[in-house]
This record gives sequence, structure tokens and C-alpha cells, in this order.
Amino acid sequence: MEVVRIAEQLESQGVDVIHLEVGEPDFPTSASVIDRACSALRAGKTRYTDARGIEPLRDALSNWYASKGLAVPSYRIQITVGASGGLLLAFAATTNPGNRVLMADPAYPCNPRFVEAVGGDTHWIKTDVATNFQPTLSQLEEKATEIDRTLILAHPANPTGQAVPHAELKQMSEWCQRTNRHLIVDEIYQNLSFTDSLISSLAISEHQFVVGSFSKYFNMTGWRLGWLVIPEYAVKETQRLAQHLFICAPSFAQEAALACFEHDALRDAEMHRLELKKRRDLLIPRLEAMGFKIAAEPDGAFYIFVDVADIAEDGQQFCAELICKTGVAVTPGIDFSNSLPPTWIRIAYTQPADRLIEALERMARFIHD
Ligand SMILES: Cc1ncc(COP(=O)(O)O)c(C=O)c1O
Repeated sequence: MEVVRIAEQLESQGVDVIHLEVGEPDFPTSASVIDRACSALRAGKTRYTDARGIEPLRDALSNWYASKGLAVPSYRIQITVGASGGLLLAFAATTNPGNRVLMADPAYPCNPRFVEAVGGDTHWIKTDVATNFQPTLSQLEEKATEIDRTLILAHPANPTGQAVPHAELKQMSEWCQRTNRHLIVDEIYQNLSFTDSLISSLAISEHQFVVGSFSKYFNMTGWRLGWLVIPEYAVKETQRLAQHLFICAPSFAQEAALACFEHDALRDAEMHRLELKKRRDLLIPRLEAMGFKIAAEPDGAFYIFVDVADIAEDGQQFCAELICKTGVAVTPGIDFSNSLPPTWIRIAYTQPADRLIEALERMARFIHD
């Protein structure tokens, strides 16, 4: 937020700021989705919907999963207020006061806040480059105690863009079942994947909560629409909670999202995914040539998590000086981690290629000055 504050201040003074700090794609929502929203509003789709979400949207998601070879019946799909609503709901359904949630450090910074909101605590599992910044079965076996009732994984994760390797995902999923623990898998970046080997947790098991979102793949961050796949054993309780916590997700956004599964929007989403992959491939060799250390190629999303240890001692200071001197905004890694050395930063490639090249040139001048 400090970087955003400085960026806004500089912009108000007329400085050309290149925003690589916010986790939001720069692409517009597909025209077909916008048209559908306008028609829905005119048709009076402005009231509460079924708390589970409108049936055609749950069916469309179920069919979309089926098209990927995943059997997810629509009665297990809850439409939510963004992935944020899905995460809060999943934590509320699984975590009682006094329980802890096992969570990788680094993590998406809102997750521990959701856990706190339902009276739980976070049990941080320190990770590093060796395991793609993901927890492993042996860590869980060593560290989990009776009060650790839930494991959350992000697949791929923010801030690293790295997925859980398939074999580890399978082992951790089986461990959760064997030890009677809940598993929540945040798969909001699943469709923004750049590798064929990235496979949904739903291909492994049906016993976990899976969080999805229209925000990133369909470029609909402001529409506040996501979904939660609920395991059979928790469907009733989770639906009841959803009704009490949210009533429903925005009605016209749900109607509009039906267009996401039609040709035009799917074509746009796919084009944008390929554009993000091109940006990743453009940035990585150039950043490495400048002295940034990249743990491993991100599997998806639009983030690169880099270590600036060879360039600066303090990532937060590096980010503050970079924005002030060059107008390039990136995020310090301490936003995501309590345990990593303070030299990590997150770069979000949410700008067109020419702006990314401009940002690299400004960074190179900054480093060499
Ligand atoms: C890993 C992760 N989960 C969830 C969210 C929240 O997404 P939404 O806009 O769907 O609420 C984000 C947003 O950046 C995220 O990075």
C-alpha cells in the first residue's frame, strides 16, 4: 500500500508511473460479457438470486469442468463474491475458534485475515525455492498437531506463480483424508497456466474445497464473482453459511458471466493467457541478465517472485527507491512473508510488452547509477 501511495502521489505530479505492483490484469472484460450485463440490467436482473447462485451459471461451470475431464456436479458449486468470498466461506466452514490452518509462507496476504475473522489461527509453514515455495508432506507430518484442522494450498500461488508439483499435491491430499483434515485449494490461477503439466486438484480427489474466480482469467476483477467447489460432506453446511454471510453474489454479474463460456469470451481469455505467457518469457531472461535471481519459471498467473539480494540489502527500500527514482512500481516480498529474507520482491506483468521493456530499461539505469 505504501508503494501504491507513492505511485499515486507521483502520478498526481505528472510522473509516468509503470504499475507492476497490483495483482490485476490490464485486459478489459470481454465485450460479450459487458453486453450480457447491460441486457441483464435492462431485463430487471437486479434482485437477490438463489443463495447458491443462478442454476444456469452453476451448470455452465459444471460443463466447463466436464470439458476438461473433471466431474463436478453443479450441486457442489456455490457462486461466491469473488474468490475472496469463496475463501472466507471455506475457512468459515472448516475452522472453529482455537483451530489452526496450515499455510505456506509466503502466501496471499488476505488468507490469514480470513482465518482470524472466523476465530482461527494460522500455522505458518516456512517454504523456500527448493520446493517451489510450496509446503511438502514431510513438513506437514513433522509440524501438524491436533489443532491444525485445515490445510490451504494455492495452485498456482501468489506471489510466486508456482504450482504444487503433482506428486506432492496427491500426497498432501491423501494425508488430509487419512488424518481427517480439511483441504482448501485456491485454483484461481489454474486457467492462467503456461504448462500442460498443471493439473487441477479435482483430478486427484473430490474431498477438498476448490476456490475459483472470474477475476483473473476472465478479466472481471471488479465484478466480484467467483465460485467454490464444495466437497460432498460439507455441501449443506456451506450453503447455509453462504446464505447467511452473503445472501448471494451480484445478480447481473452472474447473468453476464454466462457469456464467459461462449465462443467470444473464451477466445479473448485464451488470447490474453498467451499474451501473459509471452510477457513472462520476455521478462525472465532480461531480469536474470540484470542480476535478479528468479527461483524457477512461474507455472502460471502473472507474477515473478525475484530475489534482489545481489543488488540491494532491503527489498522494501529497493521498492521505495525504485518507484521514487524511476516511476516503476513493484511490491516488496515482506507483504507475503514473515520468514523469507527481506530481499524478495514481486513483479506483476500486468502491462503491455512495450511498457515492460520501458520498465526494464528504467530499472537497469537505476541499478547502474
Ligand atoms: C491467490 C489469490 N486468491 C484469491 C484472490 C482474490 O481474488 P478475487 O478477486 O476473486 O476475490 C487473489 C487476488 O489477488 C489471489 O491472488
